[in-house]
Amino acid sequence: QTPVLTDRFSRPLHDLRISVMDRCNFRCPYCMPEATYHEHFRFLEPKERLSFDEIERVARVAVSLGVRKLRLTGGEPLLRPKLPELVARLAAIEGVEDIALTTNGVLLERHVRDLKEAGLNRVTVSLDSLDPAVFARMSGGRAQLEPVLDAIDSAAQAGFSGGVKLNTVIQRGLNDAGVEALAERFRHSGVVLRFIEYMDVGTRNHWERSEVVPSRELRERIDACWPLEPVDAHYRGEVAQRYRYCDGAGEVGFISSVTAPFCGDCSRARLSSEGQLYTCLFASEGTDLRTLLRSDADDAALRDLLAGVWRRRTDRYSEERAASSDAPARRRIEMNYIGG
Ligand code: GTP
Ligand code: 5AD
Ligand code: SF4
Ligand code: SF4
Repeated sequence: QTPVLTDRFSRPLHDLRISVMDRCNFRCPYCMPEATYHEHFRFLEPKERLSFDEIERVARVAVSLGVRKLRLTGGEPLLRPKLPELVARLAAIEGVEDIALTTNGVLLERHVRDLKEAGLNRVTVSLDSLDPAVFARMSGGRAQLEPVLDAIDSAAQAGFSGGVKLNTVIQRGLNDAGVEALAERFRHSGVVLRFIEYMDVGTRNHWERSEVVPSRELRERIDACWPLEPVDAHYRGEVAQRYRYCDGAGEVGFISSVTAPFCGDCSRARLSSEGQLYTCLFASEGTDLRTLLRSDADDAALRDLLAGVWRRRTDRYSEERAASSDAPARRRIEMNYIGG
């Protein structure tokens, strides 16, 4: 039995988030604002993205170092052709306990059965508003609300073992008025809604602290309509603070990376679509795995590279931000390269 791989702060490597596609069919203002991601923006060429063989190889080696959870993200992962095939290949890796997908939902309905059959355990859909006009604005005018709601229903009915969650990023003045409506709609649905504090990810969303709505404020608003009580975390390092409705209508969660950072237990590594490995959502530098993957280096070399990066890891960006009055000014990887 090899000793557990840990970083400088004794955090294990448990979770690998894999971005399979840098493109997205949305232009959410907090992630890929249209002003930057316009029609002339240069996305990766297909050959620059890791192939399924390469992704599977990284995942297998990461599992040998302790990873148990995989999450497929983007950009929009369902823009990647044949995604269910990748899910099946990852599900076949011995040691993988959980495979999840984060999607905006537009392409979900047509793929949901194949994904389930391939071995996907759970789905998280991004949904920022139930108001069609606000939804349109939050998606950069690229999408309609109804197909996404239909996709959420289909996913809820598909029987994913880990269920369906919703991610709602709240940006003050944009969609914060719709919080109660969202909560009401998904009470009794079995789908778990999570409100996310708007974060300063990337460098292109012109983040302002004044646009962050603290989770506490949202929780009090929901609690005033439907009383809430806290639920214990499912596992160490859980990102969302969970609450249940006292009347038995289900659960909601709050992800408070700005007002209550959770770096202390962060066990997540991120693989970009072009094969850079990042040890933090706010990293300024990644480690290139693609060059090694496309050389004649063997798995042992890949394993050494991954293990070395993790052992040296000291990231705790959200805690550092919380301790200072402003967002530390530095280069940061953009969200569409590493997903949420
Ligand atoms: P599960 O508990 O496995 O369902 O995953 P999760 O709670 O990590 O959910 P998900 O991957 O959907 O993450 C939800 C959102 O939380 C992301 O889109 C990010 O906005 C935020 N988030 C997730 N992981 C991190 C992290 O490591 N650091 C920070 N600062 N935010 C994160
Ligand atoms: N702040 C918080 N969450 C974000 N996401 C993207 N950009 C941001 C941001 N600036 C997350 C959302 C979305 C997922 C794909 O990425 O949760 O659902
Ligand atoms: Fe696309 Fe998700 Fe980013 Fe919105 S948040 S632009 S849906 S990747
Ligand atoms: Fe992990 Fe970085 Fe997020 Fe902190 S800011 S929880 S270290 S990804």
